[in-house]
Amino acid sequence: MTDQRAQFGTRLGVIATTVGSAVGLGNIWRFPYEAGAHGGGAFLLIYIGFIFLIGVPVICAEFIMGRGTRRNIFGAFRALHSSRYWAWTGYMGILASILILSFYSVVAGWTMEYLAEALTGTLDAASAGGELHDAFDNFAAGPRSVMWTLIFLAINAVILFRGVRGGIERASNVLMPVLFIILIIFCINSLTMPEAAEGLRFLFRPDFTKVDSSMLIGALGQAFFSLSLGLGTLMTYSSYFSDSTPLVKSAVTTASLDTLVAILAGIIIFPAVFTYGCEPAAGPKLVFEVLPSIFHQMPGGPIWAILFFFLLFLASLTSTISMSEICIAFFCEQLGMSRRRATLLNTVIAMSLGTLCALSFGAFSGFTVCGLTIFNLFDYLSSNIMLPLGGMLISIFAGWIVDRRILRSQLAGTGRISTPLLRTITFCLRYVAPAAILLVFLSGLDII
Ligand code: PHE
Repeated sequence: MTDQRAQFGTRLGVIATTVGSAVGLGNIWRFPYEAGAHGGGAFLLIYIGFIFLIGVPVICAEFIMGRGTRRNIFGAFRALHSSRYWAWTGYMGILASILILSFYSVVAGWTMEYLAEALTGTLDAASAGGELHDAFDNFAAGPRSVMWTLIFLAINAVILFRGVRGGIERASNVLMPVLFIILIIFCINSLTMPEAAEGLRFLFRPDFTKVDSSMLIGALGQAFFSLSLGLGTLMTYSSYFSDSTPLVKSAVTTASLDTLVAILAGIIIFPAVFTYGCEPAAGPKLVFEVLPSIFHQMPGGPIWAILFFFLLFLASLTSTISMSEICIAFFCEQLGMSRRRATLLNTVIAMSLGTLCALSFGAFSGFTVCGLTIFNLFDYLSSNIMLPLGGMLISIFAGWIVDRRILRSQLAGTGRISTPLLRTITFCLRYVAPAAILLVFLSGLDII
């Protein structure tokens, strides 16, 4: 150990916690509805391109900065460069983490409601009666949605109180593989549905006439959101890595597993969307309307529903823990707060904003900014703007400002790194990632 900070115990722990952060509602809830809204196949292809062309190099950049300095995002920028301006990227990451935590907790709350409904049998009854659509709308607009948001954030806080190693690592180690196996079983089930072929065609056959700037921005935002990238989560986590963790390999493994889970979710959802006559572009409620129908027609459906919503709830928790960690590390290390107090502050802010997000499906649904409800606004601002912008700045910083020797020594770890690999990563960080992100932004402004 180089200093007093905690470190993840095992190599598996490193992958499980990083993947635990990446895999969550982003893959299972957000990916299907974004892909559905943007026409399916072409979105998937562009999304995968962004993951590997931009995502993997930027993950490496976050890892280099995190482990190289063993600080939170703000401290990492300050440690590597004296200018105060770069540290603003840190502030943006902290703000993004709070916005995401707020709306994410609402959706995590929905998973808890569905878990409760699966346990009491109401979910199955609603599926049988064909009332899923109204049931969701009524629930999301009502006070129970706020209640679950607050309960979810309270659970999140309890786990965070226990510190880095105790809570996060142990939970992710066991649960992520279980989730994975369940998803594969659901995929097999979906492939036997009457309209499976149509669903797969929608997901895998690219229709490039659907490509436009809003799709490009959507795919880029989804890539960053799903990888937990651009706001310092992976930087904060990698500050707990040991010196021997291989950074490039961990980056590629994280990106591949995360993408795989999103694709599995697509294979589960789209055959069902077409079989049950749902609308692929239904937006945030898509998955919550489609999944119960899937469970309803499966043998032993209620048990699957319980298992699935429980695991989705846990997957959300490993993600919210990671985004809260950014803020908490910042409050503790830069503002000198105790961990307890920092967690409390983070939770109170997220509870207040989360309530607003939850209400934006009900009482505040008429309150919009640029046509977006508070929930959608928080999502759009953080995922589609702040994360890619943060990623671009991190990429430029790591590529141009951080000393090449630090890049080399961090990427090599306790082993070696080949010169061509080092050159490729540096090239991506200097030119490819920033230029690609800039082009997507410009396309959104209708400049190109
Ligand atoms: N990547 C997480 C998911 O897919 C969400 C997340 C975003 C987590 C940003 C941390 C930071 O669910």
